[in-house]
Amino acid sequence: MSAGLQRVFSGVQPTGDLHLGNYLGAIKNFVTLQDTHDCIYCVVDMHALTEWQDPAALVANTREVTAGFLASGIDPKSHIVFNQSQVSAHAELAWIFNCVARMGWLNRMTQFKEKAGKNRENASVGLFTYPNLMAADILAYKATHVPVGEDQKQHLELARDIAQKFNNDFASSIQAHGLAETFFPITEPLITGPATRVMSLRDGSKKMSKSDPSDMSRINLTDDRDTIAKKIRKAKTDPLNIPSEENGLEARPEADNLVGIFAALSNQPRGEVLKQFGGKQFSEFKPALAELAVEVLGPIGMEMARFADDPGYIDGVLNNGAQRASEIAAPIMRDVRRIVGYIG
Ligand code: AMP
Ligand code: TRP
Repeated sequence: MSAGLQRVFSGVQPTGDLHLGNYLGAIKNFVTLQDTHDCIYCVVDMHALTEWQDPAALVANTREVTAGFLASGIDPKSHIVFNQSQVSAHAELAWIFNCVARMGWLNRMTQFKEKAGKNRENASVGLFTYPNLMAADILAYKATHVPVGEDQKQHLELARDIAQKFNNDFASSIQAHGLAETFFPITEPLITGPATRVMSLRDGSKKMSKSDPSDMSRINLTDDRDTIAKKIRKAKTDPLNIPSEENGLEARPEADNLVGIFAALSNQPRGEVLKQFGGKQFSEFKPALAELAVEVLGPIGMEMARFADDPGYIDGVLNNGAQRASEIAAPIMRDVRRIVGYIG
């Protein structure tokens, strides 16, 4: 990590297989940001507990997400990769934020409503306060930039509100301790690229997700070449040809999704993809997309398989990252404790 660069923080939950949505919406951007920022990438195992996890599966999934980070090109030496539960600052700051955030704010969170479903009485309290823990993740390091997919936008707005309210509520204490008025930064979401919301391959109105019961709905980073090609071949489409202009993708969610995936995987804007494929049929587009997906994801999956054989190495990366993350959070948490009025 080099002094003076802006700090990036982001997290991914170890709750199932990493998929193309995670890669294009988040991890691919994590990799790029390493050139310009100091980056901290976290496997958020504490967030995973908001819905019941089989403990052995949580261990395996934490290692798999870490392997996915490394296989995609995240460098754990120049930057930091660790699992959330190893750094106590997250839980400690989340409690303080539980007391800063308002019930009304959390009541507006759409992800809670979606995940809790009809039976809200039976959702864990942790699922409700989840966005406060997420704000703590970011602010324990005073990170200023947070790369995520579109679905996290509302949570990041909440993190900004929490930072602002903390700075206001404790303004005189912050001043009395001689600290900067904007103690917590107001973080910038980075929601970038042509695929910030990758949709299910079976239903263009649903997000591609780890929790979709149909494995055909998503491409997992660990899928082999044949599986990737098969899932793309079977992806839902409409009977029309590929349009030549972007407005031709309106109200065609499946076509829009596949073109967006092609654009993101080939690092070009959607318009360029349409120039190449406009007027062609999906029967021509799909094999080209499959070939591209295999070319980009194949090596990542193979590298992940290699890491799967070496859990000792992965655990070493996480322990080392946790140590370095703790060192960054420690002085910030020392200030936080003084600001809120804890002794010691
Ligand atoms: P999660 O799997 O919910 O922990 O998400 C990890 C990261 O991947 C977050 O930044 C999400 O916004 C992003 N992400 C998850 N699903 C998708 C999707 N279908 N399209 C784009 N980004 C996604
Ligand atoms: N809530 C995010 C998700 O489900 C994961 C996450 C946890 C996160 N803490 C974070 C993302 C902090 C960015 C910053 O995708």
